[in-house]
Order: sequence, then C-alpha cells, then structure tokens
Amino acid sequence: MSSPEAARATERPTGVDLRVRVGSLSFKNPIIAASGTFGYGIEFAGLVDLNRLGGIVVKGLSIEPMAGAPAPRICETPGGMINAIGLQNIGVRAFVSEKLPKLRRYDTAVIANVFGSCVSEYVEVITVLEDSEGISAYELNISCPNVERGGAEYGTDPSLASEVVSQARRAAQRPLWVKLSPLVGTIGLMARAVESAGADAVVVANTYPALCINAHTRRSHLGSTTGGLSGAGIKPITMRLVYEAGRVIHIPIVGLGGIANPTDVVEYMAAGASAVEVGTAHFVDPRASERLVDGLEAWCRDENLFEISRLQGSFEV
Ligand SMILES: Cc1cc2nc3c(=O)[nH]c(=O)nc-3n(C[C@H](O)[C@H](O)[C@H](O)COP(=O)(O)O)c2cc1C
Repeated sequence: MSSPEAARATERPTGVDLRVRVGSLSFKNPIIAASGTFGYGIEFAGLVDLNRLGGIVVKGLSIEPMAGAPAPRICETPGGMINAIGLQNIGVRAFVSEKLPKLRRYDTAVIANVFGSCVSEYVEVITVLEDSEGISAYELNISCPNVERGGAEYGTDPSLASEVVSQARRAAQRPLWVKLSPLVGTIGLMARAVESAGADAVVVANTYPALCINAHTRRSHLGSTTGGLSGAGIKPITMRLVYEAGRVIHIPIVGLGGIANPTDVVEYMAAGASAVEVGTAHFVDPRASERLVDGLEAWCRDENLFEISRLQGSFEV
C-alpha cells in the first residue's frame, strides 16, 4: 500500500456528515428538541450547548398567555409518561419580546410551535411571528379542539385540518410544518390532506390520549383526568405512522415518539423521517438531545456510515 492510489483507496473520512434537509431547510444534524419538553430553549442554555442541536421547537404559542391545567400535570407510566399541561404558555407577544432575542443568538434552528382554538387564532399567532427575525419554520399543532366546531379536533378531521393549514399557509412566508395527531384512522389520508393544503413537511406525531387511575383513590393521577402518552412505549406505534405516511406523501416527514437512543433515530430515519424530534427523554436527562448528537456520530462511525442522510427511507420490507 505505498502508491498514492492505494493510499486513497484505504482512506476513510474521519468525520461524519450529520447534516440533513427538511425541504428547503438545512439542519446541522437531525436532532431537534420537541415542543413542550424543552421550554423556550434558553432555559436550558446553562445545562446544554444549544449550538450543538439541529434545532429547537419552542413550547406551543397561543395569541394570549395561557395558565394551563390544574396539577398534577404529569404522571410516569411503565413505558413513558402522561402529561396534561393544558398548553400553558406566555403568549406569542411575550415570546417575541422576551425569549426570541436571546434564543436567536444561538447557532441552532428555531421552530415556533403554533396553536389556537379557531383558525383565526392560528393565523394571528403566525402574523405576529412573521415580523420577527430568527425563526426557521412554523410547526402547527393541530391536536387541539376547535371551539367553533363543538370541540372537534383539527387533527382528527381532514377537512378541518385542510382549512387551518390553508389559512396558515396564506399567512406564512416561512416553511410550514404540520404536526399530526396519531389518533387518525388512516394517517395517509390526513398527511395527504395537509400536503394538498400547502404544508411543507409533516411532523409525526403528537401524544396518544391516555388515562392513568390511582388504584387507592380511584381517581386520575392527573388534575385534568386524561392526558397524552409519550415516551418509549409509543415508539413502535408512531414508527408505523411515519412509514405509512411516507408511502403516500411527497413532502418530508419529521419523526418523533419515544426517541432516547441513537438507534431510535436511525430507525425513524430508515422508516422515512428526514429529521427527528426528542421529547420525553429530556425529563430523564435534560442533556438527552446533545448526548444523542454525540451518540449518533459515534454510531455512524462504527457502522462506516459517513453521511447520515443516506439512512432516510432505507427501510426494506
Ligand atoms: C410535558 C409535555 C408537553 C408537551 N407540550 C406540547 C406542546 O405544547 N405542543 C406540541 O405540539 N406538543 C407538545 N408535546 C408533545 C411532544 O412534543 C411530542 O410530540 C410527544 O411527547 C412525543 O414525543 P416523545 O415520546 O419523544 O415525548 C408535549 C409533550 C410533553 C411530554
């Protein structure tokens, strides 16, 4: 092995290219902190090097501040946790004036999670955010009751979902991600509906409605009776949704549900995700996302995989 050709043939790049694309957006790695599990990002700056993360989805933002649900708000389950936070948040205007100026100093993509109780509220939140610098994309949380339609969830009805997405599309200059509810008969129908309405990507998926009863008191463990199940237990169920959605839509998918280890990321990407989000794992270790970036790089190196984007859709039946 002395000729230059032979040397080149055995050369291996030492670095792993962790960059991924979600539509028009480029991320330094596929690890994005999930909404509601990482505050507004900056609260974690003393613990986590935010510059290492591919992105941060901030806590869901509504037009007015919301106090949230009564305590207790979270309950541990064998495979994860149930939460009923009640979408507590400081409101979009306080986010723009107090949180965003600090957050945008970091070299990570900021994604604003948006919700409302009617279509005009979604549009209003986006309109406020449109005037602000330092946001890469919007993530619409459509797992919310529509007060104008008797509380039916946008995320479980393709026509309601289309309506909110098309109005949001008109208001937004930035990429529009739509976070789907897992509680749909056929995820492909919902994914196709939001794709046709103008979504740039789908995020699969939110939590699963759940109930946890205290055997002694025969009352719920949560202040607002039911909540949303997340964590390791939902991973295989949501992974199937990612796979099924990917078979029928042409826009990118961001996958999430129970990701805690590098191989979870690999599996979601193989199922069709372009990038992933990490939620409940932050309750075990606030540095979970940063650790995942390191772990993913090491995993790829061990597997001689030098471009992580090659994993996307690599699952073979
Ligand atoms: C405490 C908590 C709060 C959450 N708040 C929001 C939220 O405000 N908006 C939203 O779209 N999803 C919210 N989620 C859902 C997560 O972003 C994520 O979709 C879900 O937990 C599944 O991912 P995981 O298993 O990695 O946690 C929340 C989840 C938890 C555990």
